[in-house]
Amino acid sequence: MKPIIQAKKLRLGVLASGRGSNFLAIQQAIAAGRLDAEIAVLLSDQPQAAVLAEAQQLGIRNRAVVPGNFNRKEDYEGRLVEILQAGDTDIVVLAGYMRLVGSVFLRAFPHRIVNIHPALLPAFTGLHAQRQAVEYGVKYSGCTVHLVDNGMDTGPIIRQAVVPVDDDDDEESLAARILVQEHKIYAEVLQLLAEGRVFLEGRKV
Ligand code: GRF
Repeated sequence: MKPIIQAKKLRLGVLASGRGSNFLAIQQAIAAGRLDAEIAVLLSDQPQAAVLAEAQQLGIRNRAVVPGNFNRKEDYEGRLVEILQAGDTDIVVLAGYMRLVGSVFLRAFPHRIVNIHPALLPAFTGLHAQRQAVEYGVKYSGCTVHLVDNGMDTGPIIRQAVVPVDDDDDEESLAARILVQEHKIYAEVLQLLAEGRVFLEGRKV
């Protein structure tokens, strides 16, 4: 008798460079029983990143791995992969991680790296996506969870959420509105992955 769902406890390796609000939202979804997963390790490229202290407080394994300590990007990524694989990581979750993922990483985790971007891709890739949206004058923006490929914010899209842009919005007010949706859809996507319900066909997820 096949179980209704094989809710595998997904092991997540989270990479973050800053405050880590998406990391916290994922951990809260796990604690609330909305996400069948566990965070195996939190890695940051920034030794002073607030997210490291947050992870420490939550008793989650956390390491700073500093690119500057390595001669080549391949060596830096090799070290990340080593730590993630030692933690039996199923999915690598980029959550406010401000570096491009290279070939060493992509080879180690093919179609197993996800990212969240604070815009409706393919619009407004790169940094300050919220500012780009305000300055462009769009009426709607939002956020995108996508599989990471060798481009910047170009991988197959898994889920998006839309928010209105008000006339008096600035970068900060729009970012705050989008962030609420980021925290919601990231946990939803990870739960879909945990349930084995995410399939890739060409670019289509
Ligand atoms: C978020 O807007 C995320 O979409 C972007 O970085 C911002 C900070 O994320 N990648 P967090 O609060 O550190 O999770």
